[in-house]
Amino acid sequence: MIKRVLCIGAGYVGGPTMAIIAKHCPGVEVVVADINPERIGAWRSGTPPIYEPGLEAVVREGLGRNLHFTTEVEAAIANAEMIFVSVNTPTKTYGHGAGRAADLQHVEQTARTILRHARGDVVVVEKSTVPVRTAEAMERIFRSGNGQARFEVLSNPEFLAEGTAVRDLEEPGRVLIGGRETEAGRAAVEALVEVYAHWVPRERILTTNIWSSELSKLVANAFLAQRISSINSVSAVCEQTEADILEVSRAVGADSRIGPLFLRAGVGFGGSCFQKDIQNLVYLCEYYGLEEVARYWDAVVTMNQYQKRRFVRRMITAMFNTLAGKRIAVFGFAFKANTDDIRDSPALEICRDLVNEHAHVCVTDPQALDNARLALVDIDRSVAFELDPYSAAEGAHAIAVLTDWEEYRNLDYARIYASMEKPAFFFDGRNMVDAERLHGIGFNVYSVGRPPHTTL
Ligand code: NAD
Ligand code: UGA
Repeated sequence: MIKRVLCIGAGYVGGPTMAIIAKHCPGVEVVVADINPERIGAWRSGTPPIYEPGLEAVVREGLGRNLHFTTEVEAAIANAEMIFVSVNTPTKTYGHGAGRAADLQHVEQTARTILRHARGDVVVVEKSTVPVRTAEAMERIFRSGNGQARFEVLSNPEFLAEGTAVRDLEEPGRVLIGGRETEAGRAAVEALVEVYAHWVPRERILTTNIWSSELSKLVANAFLAQRISSINSVSAVCEQTEADILEVSRAVGADSRIGPLFLRAGVGFGGSCFQKDIQNLVYLCEYYGLEEVARYWDAVVTMNQYQKRRFVRRMITAMFNTLAGKRIAVFGFAFKANTDDIRDSPALEICRDLVNEHAHVCVTDPQALDNARLALVDIDRSVAFELDPYSAAEGAHAIAVLTDWEEYRNLDYARIYASMEKPAFFFDGRNMVDAERLHGIGFNVYSVGRPPHTTL
């Protein structure tokens, strides 16, 4: 039975995942290490550096017991029997494969640090999302050996979604563990199965070969993103034909072979992973000479870009072909509700497009305003920030809802309407509000993939 677990990388995945392991395995000492002292300081203080519903309570509970955070990565490695690697694997922004390939420098640096400091038998678990056969590269680094440790590498991709991370970790649909089909490989897999079996029913713990596990993570994200691009592509057809995307989604999703989830049309998917992981898959396909497969998946990203541009174009057309000098209140900057994460958020590009049209943008968001301010620092003379949505909308010509925060559903829209320039426009990029009700108040309402409610 494993007693000392380490996770390298204390981000959106490492922190929550380890807090849940610590909760369910009180006999295991769980250490989370990161090179970022501010992040570690925040975790240690009991106020996590990321916003995630329910997380703070689990972390605080663990801190007094078996959950520890440290910047002393090397010392922590020397003491660990099982090491999760949960560092970031962003898209490369430079050199060969820029804009497509995964930047694996943090994974490789971590493997080299592990090699230098590990002792005894150590199971290294890939938690980060990586291209297929990354485990092989790690194994080769480990085989270059320091003679003080023996390594077994596993793949254990994470499927949590931000905003519901605690629930997803508490009740995962499945846990996937891939390992080598050798005696040592099977023993390592069993050791990790035992950890999860503290709270996850055994039948939900899937074990596979290591390459299937690595590939399944990329494919799961590609399938999810593909559904969103599919429904978004249909939303464009709806806008031309007076079909209503809500009705089409319901009708199509009622087929049990298709299913109702992940069929919400909107301003496009965001987040740090969907685009990155598809690009990663596309790059892999190109690497293996599978051009047609690469183009197939690449279209999912192309459609997502199109959806964001289309949203802004619709705003311009509706508002008499000019946004210049107009105040636009942007409701929501996070890439989805219940997170402060703005990585690859549709709001990033949409706000920039609006500023390019010489609009005066005012952003409001209940959790992501600080991150929004940092992300738009280069254009901050054209963008204002307001925590209060009522202040953001005051004097605006239009509101654009870009994040599905529940609170935007039921604001006092009569009060908001009264404070706006007329005619007042409402662009519901998440199909959140009751368009008829808002039209009744006086707004010209444009939803995604739905007939507009306008009086002009
Ligand atoms: P993140 O950027 O929030 O966290 C990564 C952390 O790793 C950072 O705090 C960074 O300082 C640390 N780090 C980088 N190099 C290090 C090193 N050499 N030593 C110690 N620490 C180091 O990233 P994240 O969102 O937690 O994602 C991590 C991985 O998990 C990625 O591969 C991602 O694709 C995958 N993933 C993310 C999510 C999600 O919802 N965010 C879900 C599933 C999988
Ligand atoms: C996604 C996956 O859902 C997780 O399983 C996976 O672990 C994770 O990526 C990852 O690898 O990082 P996440 O990006 O946190 O999780 O959030 P999602 O709920 O998947 O939403 C992603 C984006 O799609 C958001 O911008 C969301 O608004 C958008 N979306 C989602 C839609 O536009 N329509 C939908 O029907 C669903």
